[in-house]
Formats: sequence, structure tokens, C-alpha cells
Amino acid sequence: MTGGCGFIGSNFIRHILGKYPEYHIVNLDKLTYAGNLDNLRDIEDNPRYTFVRGDICKKDTVKELVPSCDIIINFAAESHVDRSITGPEPFIHTDVVGTFTLLEAARQHDVTLVQISTDEVYGSLREGEFREDDPLKPNSPYSASKASADLLAHSYYVTYGLPVLITRSSNNFGPYQHPEKLIPKFTVRALQGKPLTLYGTGENVRDWIYVLDNCTGIDTVVHRGSPGEVYNIGGGNEKTNLEITYKILETLDRPSSLIHFVEDRKGHDFRYALNIEKMGSLGWNPHHDFEEALEETIFWYRDNEWWWKLLPGSD
Ligand SMILES: NC(=O)c1ccc[n+]([C@@H]2O[C@H](COP(=O)([O-])OP(=O)(O)OC[C@H]3O[C@@H](n4cnc5c(N)ncnc54)[C@H](O)[C@@H]3O)[C@@H](O)[C@H]2O)c1
Repeated sequence: MTGGCGFIGSNFIRHILGKYPEYHIVNLDKLTYAGNLDNLRDIEDNPRYTFVRGDICKKDTVKELVPSCDIIINFAAESHVDRSITGPEPFIHTDVVGTFTLLEAARQHDVTLVQISTDEVYGSLREGEFREDDPLKPNSPYSASKASADLLAHSYYVTYGLPVLITRSSNNFGPYQHPEKLIPKFTVRALQGKPLTLYGTGENVRDWIYVLDNCTGIDTVVHRGSPGEVYNIGGGNEKTNLEITYKILETLDRPSSLIHFVEDRKGHDFRYALNIEKMGSLGWNPHHDFEEALEETIFWYRDNEWWWKLLPGSD
């Protein structure tokens, strides 16, 4: 897999090594600002785990690793919308060219590729839910780069018959998420008594999924999904950013005076929501209770200051 030193990838590696005693994972990660070896300290000596520092855009690196793999799961990406607005170039490079490089290597060695994508590729909607065959209407350079990767992946299935599967999940939360993202950012700022800067009126809606539910969802697609198919992995927990903010403050017993409203994000999508019936037909459903998982997550950051204290964005 790629991008295993990031948030979802590290949780996924832990899940897979714990569940499948016969599997070996090779983790190819460039260790950008978002990649963190501390995310995998507890398994770094596991004999079934190999870490390779490298870039998914580099043909030679990828070509060397792919022949010994049964499957490629591509988590590696530039993943932060705000950064894609101020500097889109690395997003095009890693998310588009990187995925292309992996697809080419997969094609040459006939290896299945699972592309980890996002609900953001569908764009924004006021009512209803996105289904897998809805058109893609991405609104940020991040979501456009992920949508481009999805389209490329789909074309490799149609043109070359390469077994390609795509998962599109909603907003993940849980341990080991970089403190530039909403929940860890507001948690560590609230812990330090610093202002929580909310875009616009805070009424934008996101569907939240606990990261371990996404991991079991991806696991299900890897083992039971059909090549050429897209699978929405949603948590069914629609919350406004303001609701999330209040929950963090309430859990940590901090005052609402810490909330500061700031100018809205450019091109800010209002709402995402996913229809997950297709995953249901594979026998998967999210099972973590949102309130409990969010509380546990907030306490994880409270109790693991060593993990976030020195990361950029936590000040
Ligand atoms: N976090 C979410 O809520 C969410 C929701 C839906 C989809 N996704 C998708 O899931 C995947 C993982 O997201 P995340 O939140 O864990 O991201 P993350 O930013 O925490 O981690 C990304 C990882 O990819 C690595 N990486 C970046 N560029 C690379 C390159 N060129 N070569 C090799 N490694 C590289 C980084 O070092 C890092 O370890 C991404 O593809 C993202 O688009 C994330």
C-alpha cells in the first residue's frame, strides 16, 4: 500500500496486520509533512511489515515494488483542501500523476489496484445523497485532482481490463489525524485555550465516519468488491461544523467564547452526503456510535500530546 504513514493508511495497516496473520504489507510513503513514522511506532518491528520511503510518482521505485505485490491499495495523496487552494501543484503531481504511475505499473504486472477516493469528487448537494454513478463535479483543486485519478483508474478498467476498484468515503475522524484537519485541530487548540477559527457561519454539513469503520469498509471492498466498481463508504452522521465544534468544547469543558468566525473558504462546498446501499449489499455497515467515537477521539488527542505537540499546525 501507499501513503501508510498518514492518518487513514496507518489505521488501515494496524487493522490488516491484526486481522490477517498471513498478510505482509509493504508501505510506500514519501513522508511528506503529512506522513509520520510515529503513527506506526507500535508495528514498525512487525516481521510482516516493510516500510519503503519513496514517491509514488517515481516510475523506478514503483516498478521495483509492484511485481512482488498481490494488490496495490493507493492511500497516498495530498489531502488537505486548504493547501490545495493556496498551492495546487503538488496535488496534481501526487494525486493525478502518482495514481497514473501506479496504474501503469499495475497494468504491466496485472496487479489489482484499489484507489482510495473521497465523497468530495461529487461536489456539493443541498438535499438527498450521492450514489456511485452520479456525475463528478469537484469544486476544489483537491477534489478535482482526486476526481481525475478516479477517471484515470476507471479508464484502465475499461481500456485494459485492469482490475480496479474505487472507494469514496466521507470525512474520517479518529486517532493519528494531522492537526491541520478540523477535529484534531480544534481539539488541540481548545486544549491549549486557543481560538477555534470557523469558516463562514459554521453551517456547512459533512458526513462523518469513524476511521476504523472506513478501514473495515476498505477491507470489505478489497476482499468482496467487484473490479470496475465504485463503493461509497459513509458513516451516516451528518453534522454541521458548528455542531462538531460545540461537541469538542463541551467534551473538554472549554467555553464557547473560544469560537471565532472567519471569512469563508473559497469554493466551500455546503454539504456532502453518501448513499451506502451498495456497501450494504457487500455486508458492510458502519457500526461505531458517532458520539462515543468522537468523545474517544477527543480524549485520544488529550492523552497523546507527545504525538501532536511538535507537528506543524498544532501551535
Ligand atoms: N481524511 C479524510 O477524511 C479522507 C476522506 C476521504 C478520502 N480520503 C483519502 O484517503 C487517503 C488518505 O487520506 P489521509 O487523511 O490519511 O491523508 P494524509 O494526508 O494523512 O496522508 C497522506 C499520506 O500520503 C503520503 N504521500 C503524499 N504524497 C506522496 C507521494 N507522492 N508518494 C508517496 N507517499 C505520499 C504522505 O507522506 C502521507 O503519509 C487520501 O487519498 C485521501 O484523499 C481521506
